[in-house]
Amino acid sequence: AEKKVVFSGIQPTGIPHLGNYLGAFKQWVDLQEQASQGTTLLYSVVDLHAITIRQDPHQLRLWKKEMLASLLAVGLDPERSIIFYQSAVPAHSELMWILSCNASVGYLSRMTQWKSKLSLPENVSPLDPTTKTPLKLGLFSYPVLQAADILVHRATHVPVGSDQAQHLEFARECATSFNHHFGQVLVSPETIISPAKRVMSLTKPEQKMSKSDDNPKSRILITDTEEDISKKIKSALTDSTEGVSYDPVARPGVSNLLDILFHMTGSTFGSREDLVADCQNLSMRAFKSRVAEAIETEIGPVRERFHETLQRENGKYLSSVAELGAKKASTSATGTMNLVRDVVGL
Ligand code: ADP
Ligand code: NA
Repeated sequence: AEKKVVFSGIQPTGIPHLGNYLGAFKQWVDLQEQASQGTTLLYSVVDLHAITIRQDPHQLRLWKKEMLASLLAVGLDPERSIIFYQSAVPAHSELMWILSCNASVGYLSRMTQWKSKLSLPENVSPLDPTTKTPLKLGLFSYPVLQAADILVHRATHVPVGSDQAQHLEFARECATSFNHHFGQVLVSPETIISPAKRVMSLTKPEQKMSKSDDNPKSRILITDTEEDISKKIKSALTDSTEGVSYDPVARPGVSNLLDILFHMTGSTFGSREDLVADCQNLSMRAFKSRVAEAIETEIGPVRERFHETLQRENGKYLSSVAELGAKKASTSATGTMNLVRDVVGL
């Protein structure tokens, strides 16, 4: 059988929310549970990506630990998955530089997701769309780092949310173009798109739930208490139509709650239709408490493991997990870097 290598990453830019949990973590854990002997799984806390936006150093250090604890809390196992901080494995940055020397600025600027994010003008100094300050080179070229993250481990499969597909295209382009010049050295990865629908904001259900939303009521964190969950779901924006029905266009708020409920372990329904049929006569109040209970049932144990993991051995446990991950990930990257350096002539 072909050797399978799975790579995925998440930025340490806040406590993960239900969107990260359903859209990424659950799939990462499933892949771990289904993994056979020849499969390598790598999950990275991508701190080098986090600094493409200015971060407070104390806050970043804390977020890194919290993200590592989150990965363990949702069920990733450091014995079966390589869990590591990106910056602890310098090969990521080294390969990024080498790929940069072969990556087209034009191609990077034309990427559609990129364009909408940066709206690069033709001949004036480009601005960062958020801060309106001069665009930093690192933010512009982060897809090259993303490509290096994947290619340095010869990943064959990359689980992503549907919003990320374009960056995989770029990673494939980097691999193909490098191989064209230097021979069959890099492996082109395949995407595995998450089966979960995008989780939408609780307060603005036409937008995705995101760490970067200013309104804390817009998302459920994996560390929220039962009371937090209940309050946030109660205040989630729905509508005044009688009963519960699934219609993402006309009833985005209610449909988002149905999607969330459907993906929670509390849901014993084989299809969304069965679930909707079972909820249709509930009052909005009763429906919301059912959603809140289902979230608490699944998130409660994650929250407890999160706090246990952070405290464990006075924080030494997390450091030992990070150390083990860095060692294994460095080993995984070494083979590729030896080949790459050799063919380039370094
Ligand atoms: P955020 O936008 O909250 O900062 P990231 O960009 O760090 O999240 O994404 C980390 C992972 O979580 C990615 O795989 C992404 O596809 C997934 N993800 C993020 N937000 C959502 C969402 N609202 N619904 C589903 N998946 C999501
Ligand atoms: Na994001």
